[in-house]
Amino acid sequence: MTTLRKLIVEGALALVLFAAPVMAQDAPVTTNTPGVDVPAPVDVPPAPTVDPQVQRGEYLAQMGNCVSCHTVHGGEPFAGGLPFKTPYMFLGTMYSTNITPDEETGIGTWTEADFVKAMHTGEGPNGPLYPAFPYTSFTKVSEDDVKAIYAYLRTVKPVKAEPPSNSFIFAGPFRFGMKIWNALFFDEGRYVADASQSEEWNRGAYLVNGLGHCSACHTPRNALLAEKSAEHLWGAVVPDVVAEGEYRPWYAVNLTQTQNGGLGGWSAEDIRKYLKTGHNRWGGSFGPMNEVIANSLSHMTDEDAKAMAAYIKSLPAAPDTPAQQMTDEEREAAAALYKKHCEECHAASGRGGFMKAPPVAGSVIAQGRDPASLINVILYGAEPAKSLNPPGAWETMRAFRDRMTDEEIAAVANYVRSSWKNTGSKVTAQDVARHR
Ligand code: HEC
Ligand code: HEC
Ligand code: HEC
Repeated sequence: MTTLRKLIVEGALALVLFAAPVMAQDAPVTTNTPGVDVPAPVDVPPAPTVDPQVQRGEYLAQMGNCVSCHTVHGGEPFAGGLPFKTPYMFLGTMYSTNITPDEETGIGTWTEADFVKAMHTGEGPNGPLYPAFPYTSFTKVSEDDVKAIYAYLRTVKPVKAEPPSNSFIFAGPFRFGMKIWNALFFDEGRYVADASQSEEWNRGAYLVNGLGHCSACHTPRNALLAEKSAEHLWGAVVPDVVAEGEYRPWYAVNLTQTQNGGLGGWSAEDIRKYLKTGHNRWGGSFGPMNEVIANSLSHMTDEDAKAMAAYIKSLPAAPDTPAQQMTDEEREAAAALYKKHCEECHAASGRGGFMKAPPVAGSVIAQGRDPASLINVILYGAEPAKSLNPPGAWETMRAFRDRMTDEEIAAVANYVRSSWKNTGSKVTAQDVARHR
């Protein structure tokens, strides 16, 4: 298998690309787009019955964040139609499907067995599904939990809505190329508890790697867009839809115990609080995490949030981000920019201020292996999801796109990436220009 994989990666890349493209991405609209509102969470009416299986299914569907991917901005919950792209933009666009119980356009005619098969193997009644649908994570979800989600989805309002037709590659018979991709990269199978770990840890691992599908964004992918299992949750670039036909890269940070650029400085309580409320002493949510928290993680029970945190705290550290050298002149000019534009909120010490701003010293966003999220924050500001307005949260951070040039933003980013023991590779004006 390894040799075959290597051969294909090196030799027949173009060919298999046609058969195997896909990259998951969740959020229809980022928070920080000029002229676009911070997305309100999708308003899903509560499950109409008191059937305990349906109620469990509702909770599990929230953990899987089905609604974020299967609902267009302002549309009916679960009716599908959200566009998805891979980093290979020329491959075309695919759309999420209607998973309401409508018989014609939804999954109303699906049996429970059809549904379980799709969630566990990525195989629908009409052939293989693309892994933008994160079945590579959902395969770990227990059969019982999948059946509860099915029971819940049977109770949501049926909506007659046909998603737009997939374009280019995703429209054609290339779907069947997924069989090759699955053979190479997909390990089908339920989560197996690790007997050497606590029950809490196992619950956390089950949620993070199963329904939570954190790795869909936080794990880097190979050229054929399969997650690199050796770099589990090391951080990865994800494209986010900002407007019709417009995409912006974000860096979904390293979630392992790395000191510089990972969650090494966050306690388990910091992690629990961020996931559940969108806010902790290190920062608040913005960008693609807004939807993950508003539509999914904020619904978690405290026990589940603690379990996720316990598991995440145990992830072995990925390498630190590399340090950079600035010349004295560069440093002086960059320090002046920081003083002028950032210091009022983030302080000269980089520690931020009570009710003002989170620290940039030690910030995971600031020290990302890829600077994409840091650049976005400076260009477009940062704003939490509207529904998450926890007491004690900061205000929003303004956008600097009209106040600073690309060179200035690169300089201030480098200052933040090389001060107060922070590390991070050099950001160039060209990097910034790509995000405009
Ligand atoms: C990251 C985005 C994403 C998330 C999260 C997601 N889906 Fe999907 N889903 C998709 C996309 C995209 C497709 C279409 C795939 C294709 O056309 O091959 C899809 C397809 C499906 C299908 C196949 C439907 C059909 O008509 O063929 C089912 C069933 C499904 N999803 C159920 C779910 C459930 C249940 C959840 C939550 C537990 C969920 N999805 C979460 C993106 C997502
Ligand atoms: C749709 C893609 C996506 C998914 C799914 C996702 N994340 Fe994220 N995450 C991001 C991005 C992008 C960032 C960095 C920018 C931001 O905060 O939006 C991030 C940032 C974070 C941060 C750091 C925040 C900070 O301020 O330093 C944590 C912690 C985190 N994610 C945890 C998780 C966990 C746990 C899961 C799974 C339950 C998860 N994420 C699922 C995209 C995602
Ligand atoms: C008016 C106050 C204000 C100013 C000025 C400001 N920021 Fe911020 N900044 C914030 C707030 C508030 C947040 C948190 C937003 C959220 O939680 O959604 C933030 C978040 C950040 C983050 C993310 C931290 C993390 O780890 O989550 C970075 C990095 C950052 N700012 C850098 C800068 C830089 C660089 C400048 C100067 C160019 C700057 N900020 C100017 C208020 C400010």
